[in-house]
Amino acid sequence: MTIIVTGGAGFIGSNFVFHMLNKYPDYRIICLDKLTYAGNLSTLKTVMDNPNFRFVKADICDREAVNKLFEEEKPDMVVNFAAESHVDRSIEDPEVFLRTNILGTATLMDACRKYGIKRYHQVSTDEVYGDLPIDRPDMFFTEETPIKTSSPYSSSKAGADLLVLAYHRTYNLPVSVSRCSNNYGPYHFPEKLIPLMIANALADKPLPVYGKGENIRDWLYVEDHCRAIDLIIHNGKVGEVYNVGGHNEMSNIEIVKLILKELGKPESLITFVADRKGHDLRYAIDPAKISRELGWLPETKFCDGLKKTIKWYLENREWWQEIISGEYKDYYAKMYGDRK
Ligand code: NAD
Ligand code: TYD
Repeated sequence: MTIIVTGGAGFIGSNFVFHMLNKYPDYRIICLDKLTYAGNLSTLKTVMDNPNFRFVKADICDREAVNKLFEEEKPDMVVNFAAESHVDRSIEDPEVFLRTNILGTATLMDACRKYGIKRYHQVSTDEVYGDLPIDRPDMFFTEETPIKTSSPYSSSKAGADLLVLAYHRTYNLPVSVSRCSNNYGPYHFPEKLIPLMIANALADKPLPVYGKGENIRDWLYVEDHCRAIDLIIHNGKVGEVYNVGGHNEMSNIEIVKLILKELGKPESLITFVADRKGHDLRYAIDPAKISRELGWLPETKFCDGLKKTIKWYLENREWWQEIISGEYKDYYAKMYGDRK
């Protein structure tokens, strides 16, 4: 079995590469990644010498490079993690989101059509469903919830999802789609909530909480997401969408307080800043379909996962300190410099 994993130098993609190489020692895993600001080759250093692993630096929108890789490797499957993934960046500059997330997906699927494939899997997000009210804890996203996006990021992901399902119907491409809730864990890029708060707290810098910190996300440990995708590509039905989430809703302020407590830092570091434009209120996944059909259940409880994640950031300071000392500094100054 040969699998092309796009975006494998990013957060979830790299965790998926590790999961697959570990669990299937006879599989060949090819990582195709452009190494944007979010991709890090150092993340993959422990697998670079693995004879079953190959890294290829390329853009998923580059038809020639994608076709060449298909000719060389004759993949059985493609799992597409490659994306621009940060909502705040999409609000500043939507264009690259449309290019990578939509055109890149089409380019990969065109190669799948041309060369043949057993499965094309699209890694999507619960954000395609928009948001839920905070005061309706009885409401959840199911696979039947209408697509209703809020940000350029989620709109680009929704566009890609629709295209994937259209390629199934029109060309009979054997596709599947997973829509997961917020992930956390090792190698999470420090622009995202949990690693950003850990890094700032360790440096005794202000913790910028948007609005009142009341927005709710449904957090899943990254390894649980990787297991879900593994199950879907092997046992999931072609043409189907699977929601992935572990019923673990937390408000942002609760998370930030937990991180401070775990690190022994004072709550006085919390700073409320201007809210995100169009900020989604609440995400909450109903994972009944994947549990029922594929027997998937989350294994890591949030309290354990958060402790493991914090420990990882403490033990791997060089990984994230190198990131935040580079061009990330300009990003941080632009996004948070005069945000009141
Ligand atoms: P990430 O930003 O950490 O990593 C993205 C990776 O894609 C990087 O390695 C980057 O170099 C690569 N990439 C970007 N543009 C590319 C291009 N044009 N060609 C090739 N490679 C390119 O993202 P992540 O958080 O790991 O998310 C991975 C996927 O999972 C995304 O599709 C995202 O929408 C989805 N998702 C993320 C979450 C989450 O909580 N992080 C939740 C649900 C779904
Ligand atoms: P984020 O990690 O960007 O994920 P997403 O927007 O895709 O859910 O943000 C998670 C939540 O944390 C979201 O409600 C926005 C909030 N947030 C802050 O309050 N401060 C921050 O500095 C960041 C990055 C996010």
